[in-house]
Amino acid sequence: MNATPTVNEPRERQVATLVMACLGMFVDGLMSRPLALITGASSGIGAAYARLLADDHDLVLVARRADRLSEPADELRTTGAAVEVLPADLGTPEGIAAVTKRLAAGDVRLLISNAGAGGYAPLVDVAPDEIDRLLTLNAVAPVQLARAALPGMLAADDGAVVTVASLLAFSAGQVDPHMPSRTLYAAAKAATVAFTRTLAHEVADTGVRAQVGSAPGWWRPTSTTEPAVAFPSP
Ligand SMILES: NC(=O)c1ccc[n+]([C@@H]2O[C@H](COP(=O)([O-])OP(=O)(O)OC[C@H]3O[C@@H](n4cnc5c(N)ncnc54)[C@H](OP(=O)(O)O)[C@@H]3O)[C@@H](O)[C@H]2O)c1
Repeated sequence: MNATPTVNEPRERQVATLVMACLGMFVDGLMSRPLALITGASSGIGAAYARLLADDHDLVLVARRADRLSEPADELRTTGAAVEVLPADLGTPEGIAAVTKRLAAGDVRLLISNAGAGGYAPLVDVAPDEIDRLLTLNAVAPVQLARAALPGMLAADDGAVVTVASLLAFSAGQVDPHMPSRTLYAAAKAATVAFTRTLAHEVADTGVRAQVGSAPGWWRPTSTTEPAVAFPSP
């Protein structure tokens, strides 16, 4: 809207133009949606978060495969959400850098670090560079992303960091055959739980919240029910 009245306009019209401009800015302010960035948004729990949020948030969707993000992005845009697709491999420093660069813009108010994958082999059978990739994806990425998102959230005194863990975070030392030993995955998810809970205390005196949004035991996308996910309360 052009809010600048010209000198030849009658005074009433100039006032009306300014009032309309102010009203427009007020309505724009009321209508603007907070921006949420969700990792692992192309399937499972991340896709469920995206569907839940699309009613009243704009979204940045992150996963490795852009083609798997495009379809849900188109679907979510029909709800009125503005949706960005950001392909990145969070098991690599380059992928993490692509997402932290986006977060450094300071406009994301809800970060959901959900992307993760399990390593099922006994430690002695895991290749050394696989160790780095699994720990980077499951433990380092949530920390780096939170670090990049926090300055913008703290400056706005508003925001939330949500991580997705696993029941296996609490499984150390158990010998249940239904919980095969996954040293790296259990260690990374335990780190994520400790990180998130400690961060929650660190920001407790601000308008920013941190919470483990979900620590599932076993849930599949083919399930008839949505996974149990949570958002921090104000
Ligand atoms: N489902 C369960 O029963 C269960 C149980 C315990 C914990 N969890 C945790 O819950 C979270 C989501 O699980 P889910 O079952 O919904 O997973 P999922 O259906 O396998 O989806 C994983 C998502 O993460 C993305 N992803 C995987 N590796 C990535 C990488 N290196 N970089 C960026 N994105 C990556 C995948 O997309 P691309 O493949 O295109 O990258 C996909 O969008 C994970 O953190 C998982 O550990 C799930």
